[in-house]
Amino acid sequence: MGVVDKVIANSVPVIPRPLVRVISGRYIAGEEIPEAVETIKELNRQGCLATVDLMGESTQDEDQAAQKLAGYKQVIDAIQEHGLGSGLSVKLTGLGLWVDEDLCRANLEEIIGYAAERDRFVRIDMESSLQTGSTVELALDMHQRHDNTGTVIQACLRRSLKDVMRLTEAGVTARLCKGIYDEPREVAYKDYDVVRENYILLMEEYLKSGVYVGIATHDEYLVWHALRLIHHFDVPDDRYEFQMLLGVDEELRRILVESGYKVRVYVPFGGEWYEYSTRRLKENPKIAGYVAKDVLGAIAGYAKR
Ligand code: FDA
Repeated sequence: MGVVDKVIANSVPVIPRPLVRVISGRYIAGEEIPEAVETIKELNRQGCLATVDLMGESTQDEDQAAQKLAGYKQVIDAIQEHGLGSGLSVKLTGLGLWVDEDLCRANLEEIIGYAAERDRFVRIDMESSLQTGSTVELALDMHQRHDNTGTVIQACLRRSLKDVMRLTEAGVTARLCKGIYDEPREVAYKDYDVVRENYILLMEEYLKSGVYVGIATHDEYLVWHALRLIHHFDVPDDRYEFQMLLGVDEELRRILVESGYKVRVYVPFGGEWYEYSTRRLKENPKIAGYVAKDVLGAIAGYAKR
């Protein structure tokens, strides 16, 4: 973490709540299900699919995990009721991973089964490297009984190539991303270019394997490499999709959609927006830098009028 990033990370606790709300507003669909539904409807209208994330990962006991499970079911019900083009993204710590792995496994299986009955897909988000092992094992296990599930692989992690080989061998789909958590060098590549190169390597393994892959990035260099590999291996359209975060580089999103590519947008919503946003800012102060750039850009654009 650089000096500026450290300053931002240390300032997070004193950033006023309304300011955090403004900063996060663009990246979060709202606090309640109807707001998420409206956001997804609009994305669907623009030709994008979605995956919904009910925010908040701090499940400390069995009751909270049960509440989270109920919340995930309500999200699936809403997607179903409104006929939306969307799946669900879940976090294992939300389903009780810190409380007890067996509890988490049971909750995960319940939500995947619930989604399967409604023909919906459940993606298991990847959290910090402390959870990577359990997440990969649970994804492999669930996939043996339910094919409506997959997980996420982070290109920053040194272990990811081995995980990708196991997942592709078992036919388990992954979303490929760089990884948002500030990990120690023992487990993660710290150099931006090495992370990019590793992303390309992992993406190549997926695209060659024929197992479905979600290419989750806003880095146009990686998007270009994806297009190069898709062309090179003549990958059919039903073997991959692009994925982006709500509110990030909508121009690139539009370009991909208009070029005929399948694009899915990650839509976070929920009452825990403050905890979620401040945690994200602390974990990855680069986000604050991106937002500051956006805000300054908007002010500069306004001043020119
Ligand atoms: P990079 O960080 O280089 O960003 C490229 C450009 O995109 C930046 O210059 C900036 O303009 C813009 N940008 C990127 N992120 C931004 C942001 N948050 N706000 C504003 N602008 C931004 N991570 C993880 O550890 N586990 C997970 O499960 C997921 N899930 C996930 C789903 C989806 C659909 C996406 C797109 C991403 C994730 N991530 C994630 C986050 C991912 O690991 C990574 O941190 C971000 O995608 C940023 O990496 P890029 O590849 O976009 O490159």
